[in-house]
Amino acid sequence: MDVGDVDQLVAAELRCFPEDPWTGDAFSSILSLPAFHGVVLEEAGRLIGYLVAWEIIDEGELLNIAILPEERGRGLGRGLLKNWLKRLREQRFRAVFLDVRDDNQPAIALYESFGFEVVGKRKGYYSNGEDALEMMLALGDG
Ligand SMILES: CC(C)(COP(=O)(O)OP(=O)(O)OC[C@H]1O[C@@H](n2cnc3c(N)ncnc32)[C@H](O)[C@@H]1OP(=O)(O)O)[C@@H](O)C(=O)NCCC(=O)NCCS
Repeated sequence: MDVGDVDQLVAAELRCFPEDPWTGDAFSSILSLPAFHGVVLEEAGRLIGYLVAWEIIDEGELLNIAILPEERGRGLGRGLLKNWLKRLREQRFRAVFLDVRDDNQPAIALYESFGFEVVGKRKGYYSNGEDALEMMLALGDG
């Protein structure tokens, strides 16, 4: 992921997270930070999915993962997450955290299939007042 992806990322955000999309400024301002990790998935030059995360010391935090609506159900989301977790394990990270809307069943099912567990609930976390589930995956001692 780099600055050249920002326009397509913003368009994808509007489709994947219409209630709370990230702006171009939001992407641009964090892309170059050392702890930032971003991956885009392209098909024929078109961005069809992405993953954005923090990697801080020995903890990963998944900020966002999305696949364009018409490309879902093909294993792409699973592939993005699997590759990132592999990278973290190889670098001996200890744990991964994420927040997810408590009614986002597809995402929760995806995370649970990798072994993520709910470790907390953040009341009214989202701008529309919805609660977030905090999930964690322990990666072991490295
Ligand atoms: C969550 C998301 C990234 C999954 O991407 P995807 O490419 O469609 O998912 P995959 O095809 O790789 O499926 C992986 C697993 O996710 C779960 N899943 C995916 N779609 C699902 C659905 N509609 N209902 C229930 N579980 C679902 C399943 O566990 C699935 O595994 P399985 O195929 O073995 O049953 C996608 O639905 C998306 O972009 N959603 C909108 C953005 C979003 O909410 N992101 C999460 C923010 S926290």
